[in-house]
Amino acid sequence: MRVGAPSEIHAGETRVAMTPSTVRQFSGLGHTSLLQSGAGSAAGFSDSEYVEAGAEIVASTEDLWRQSDVVVKVRPPDESELANLRKDQFQIGFFYPARNPDSLKTAAATGATVMAMDMVPRISRAQKMDALSSMANIAGYRAVIEAGNNFGRFFTGQMTAAGKTPPATILVIGAGVAGLAAIGAAQALGAVVRAFDVRAEVAEQIESLGAEFLMLEFDEEGSGSGGYAAPSSPEFRAKQHELFRQQAPEVDIVVTTALVPGHEAPRLWLRDMVEAMKPGSVIVDLAAEQGGNCELTVADERIVTDNGVIVIGYTDFPGRMATQSSTLYASNVFHMIDDLTPENDGVIQHDMDDDVIRGATVVCRGEVTWPPPALAEPVKAPGADRSPEPVKSAEDRAREAALAEARSLRQTGFWQLAMLIVGGFIVFAAGHYAPPSFMQHFVVFALACFVGYQVIWNVNHALHTPLMAITNAISGIIIVGALLQLGTGNWLVTGLAGIAVLIAAINVVGGFLVTRRMLNMFQRS
Ligand code: NAI
Repeated sequence: MRVGAPSEIHAGETRVAMTPSTVRQFSGLGHTSLLQSGAGSAAGFSDSEYVEAGAEIVASTEDLWRQSDVVVKVRPPDESELANLRKDQFQIGFFYPARNPDSLKTAAATGATVMAMDMVPRISRAQKMDALSSMANIAGYRAVIEAGNNFGRFFTGQMTAAGKTPPATILVIGAGVAGLAAIGAAQALGAVVRAFDVRAEVAEQIESLGAEFLMLEFDEEGSGSGGYAAPSSPEFRAKQHELFRQQAPEVDIVVTTALVPGHEAPRLWLRDMVEAMKPGSVIVDLAAEQGGNCELTVADERIVTDNGVIVIGYTDFPGRMATQSSTLYASNVFHMIDDLTPENDGVIQHDMDDDVIRGATVVCRGEVTWPPPALAEPVKAPGADRSPEPVKSAEDRAREAALAEARSLRQTGFWQLAMLIVGGFIVFAAGHYAPPSFMQHFVVFALACFVGYQVIWNVNHALHTPLMAITNAISGIIIVGALLQLGTGNWLVTGLAGIAVLIAAINVVGGFLVTRRMLNMFQRS
């Protein structure tokens, strides 16, 4: 199939849905890539790079749409773009179907299939296609960089010959994808970071990034379904405002990312809090597009208040890092097309029984298929326009899980008993015919297998690295034992000893390689 990326026509959009790297990947899937001339230039990719990667350059938007079987885009198509859509064509990109019901109808009337990247369900299998998270991650990082650009001081505290400078204190409100990225970036730049979220379960993630979680003494469950927040009660909101009022004079930078899907952005940083901040302080409001978390935010603007506080309400943070965001977004799109091309033969197989493909498909061959049915697997739906989580209550799910566990335990118990009886018979038969020395070794061997299996199988994944050190030691002992057996002269014993040395050596070398890789992960380059 021919996969084409047109230039984005939305004013100020710098991203592109295809990069030279994904052009090469599409070739591997058997697809041909087309690019409208200059489509990647604002993201830092020249036409020649695309050509080198194997893409064909097309002069105009119309030609691009006409020649492509699959059109990949960033922004939702506007009316002029939808006019190019034709029967049996695929269009993949952000669509926001809840916000664009008319576009949905227009697209359906053409007989095409539209897949919305913003509707990819947030289940683990679909993480590689989760473009909303990719973009929120960049927005969180960029929010901190933007704050630094507007803040007149260092982030990190310094002791210089000229005097001491205190570190900047940053408060991040909302610790979802964007919030956690902001915390990570601010920490890395050396600021003192505080964070708040209504979902108490994110406290651990905040603290693991080195930030301080601001606790609110209030008995209310802030978590909603699927990993999202529930709207807060007025009493809770009042308590929250009280906490922020205490923080306002202390913090230098506030990054707000609070969002409850399907609702306007909660108003969290009020006018009096802005007034209580020091001159030169900066507020970056990532929720500007949904009305803003800060009362003074103006979408797409940078304003300076009378008391000298800078309030930034840009809604295009990912576009301000176009190379990075295009790279991640194009990769998300590639993974989607990869899933649509299971045979790597350049043929799209649009399988509506696949949860991820079904979730993302908003129009299928001329029929509106949004909203998708609820998924069985709990979903953290990323967009404000997402379908709600499945209907089962938490208690129902807990009860079902307990029943399933009890059932599986019963089955496991039965199999263990059956294996024990069979094993007993084998040992009894062997004991009857084999010499006593064999039995002694055999029993030790069987017990070692059993104990080893039980110990390793029950070890938490996180503990596999320390465990590897022990298995390396055991492998070492095996190698020594096998080396001693190598010279016995019996071909069977020599053969078995040789195999033991080989397998144990693989274990030892593999263990070292994996350990080295893990250590490298903790080293800063
Ligand atoms: P998310 O849903 O992963 O995170 C939102 C967080 O806010 C959740 O952890 C939630 O518990 C928390 N929250 C909700 N109500 C709260 C309250 N009253 N107080 C404190 N915390 C509260 O969302 P994600 O993906 O991190 O996006 C965050 C925001 O950034 C969204 O508004 C999104 O539209 C926006 N965004 C903005 C961009 C820009 O260029 N300005 C680009 C990408 C995303």
